Amino acid sequence: MEQCPTAHVLIFPFPAQGHVNSMLKLAELLCLAGIHVTFLNTDFIHDRLVRYTDIETRFSCYPGFQFKTVSDGLSADHPRSLDKFMELYDSLNSKTKPLLREMLASNQLGSNTRPSLTCIIVDGLISIFTSDIANELQIPIIYFRTISASCFWAFFSVPNMIEAGELPVRGNEDMDHLITTVPGMEGFLRYRDLPSFCRGIDLNHFNLPIFVTETQRSPQAHALILNTFEDLEGPALFHIRTHCSKVYTIGPLHSLLKFQLEAKRSLSQSQSSNSLFEVDRSCMTWLDAQPLKSVIYVSFGSISTMTKDEHMEFWFGLVNSKKRFLWVLRSDSIAGEHDRNEVPIELVEGTKERGYIVSWTPQEEVLDHHAIGGFLTHSGWNSTLESVVAGLPMICWPYFGDQQLNSRFVSEVWKLGLDMKDVCDRFIVEQMVNDLMGERREEFMKSTTKMARLARKSVSEGGSSCCNLDLLVEDIRLMSM
Ligand code: UDX
Repeated sequence: MEQCPTAHVLIFPFPAQGHVNSMLKLAELLCLAGIHVTFLNTDFIHDRLVRYTDIETRFSCYPGFQFKTVSDGLSADHPRSLDKFMELYDSLNSKTKPLLREMLASNQLGSNTRPSLTCIIVDGLISIFTSDIANELQIPIIYFRTISASCFWAFFSVPNMIEAGELPVRGNEDMDHLITTVPGMEGFLRYRDLPSFCRGIDLNHFNLPIFVTETQRSPQAHALILNTFEDLEGPALFHIRTHCSKVYTIGPLHSLLKFQLEAKRSLSQSQSSNSLFEVDRSCMTWLDAQPLKSVIYVSFGSISTMTKDEHMEFWFGLVNSKKRFLWVLRSDSIAGEHDRNEVPIELVEGTKERGYIVSWTPQEEVLDHHAIGGFLTHSGWNSTLESVVAGLPMICWPYFGDQQLNSRFVSEVWKLGLDMKDVCDRFIVEQMVNDLMGERREEFMKSTTKMARLARKSVSEGGSSCCNLDLLVEDIRLMSM
């Protein structure tokens, strides 16, 4: 790949685990291609990254890389939890925006050894205020989205759905009603599969127009980067490309990065973590002692919470299935003021026979472990892609946002597993775990093995994601001339 000594990119993720994780991978890929990268974190996120990882040491091997931080405008003790999403979003807009503007206007990111900015790659979720600044200062801007192409396309189609009277979803709607106004998804997308922001119940916490407006502005950006691959989401990408002229699909990013690091023989780096939580590696020792493909991995991502009752339904379902399980229970997983920060003792005590509970795992390594045979997931997009690459069948219990749509694609379109959305019942959990790990395993393994092969092909030399990364690098290099 050609070196780009004069190109310099600012990468700015939305301050949350799934966003920071994938954008750091993009940053490392651009560093490997010889591009200067400034990675902008909020202070809150950067403190956690530094506390729980060796991130600064790891990136110190790239001379063109630097971290910068900026305030998110919230107080140190603000929970920054999902139910306070709009407070964080509004604060970024009102408090962080002027700080970022000043940083860029006074060229604080350039130096004697570092060229001034070539372009900004911003998380599409905060593109509105960033593109205002980029336009004012005439810096090209590229949007990066951490959601699937299919979810992006569903968000893009919201105005069509509203015009046709299919949105908003009202309380008394038949949730199995098929949506007719998202081109390419007419035969299988139901109300219950729409991004959760389309459901009335979510509107207390989220402002649907924000997600729609952020997405609708994408055609105005210089380009759009998506963490997906052509063989997985060709139909949605076809529709997106009728609106956005340059779409770079460079996923699965974690796999592309691993491939490129291995090609450069930086093998030690391919196991590194971008976690905002303390990783408990004891689960790897536990997994080493389990039989091949015998364990179901259970994780609901970095943000979702559930009630103690819901936890108990999952726990009974898992225990009654008599299958082995490794379960991530974050200390803040349990919803409700009183229960917060305590994992129910009966879960921990009653799990010892066949299960293992940890507060955070090295997930990519876990999914690659020979003892893991399936994944009970919340269908976050990173987790979904990580499971696809590992060739694991999934049981999906989507919690919010894009996850409702991802789980429909996993079960109905890609046939990679089962969708348990809108149900939380110990008998269903038990039955699905037994189906996935036993009776229907062969059926799912055919599709998961095939999709894993396509994912690996896409990131290998000559594959679509590998070639698209080269095109993106070339595009950035040309902008710097
Ligand atoms: C949410 C959205 O659902 C997701 O689609 C969007 O792209 C980002 O915001 P989140 O709940 O964080 O994401 O889930 P996910 O996208 O799956 O990301 C979680 C990340 O944390 C994954 O990369 C996973 O490997 C990592 N993880 C999770 C760990 O490293 N250890 C764990 O124990 C659990």
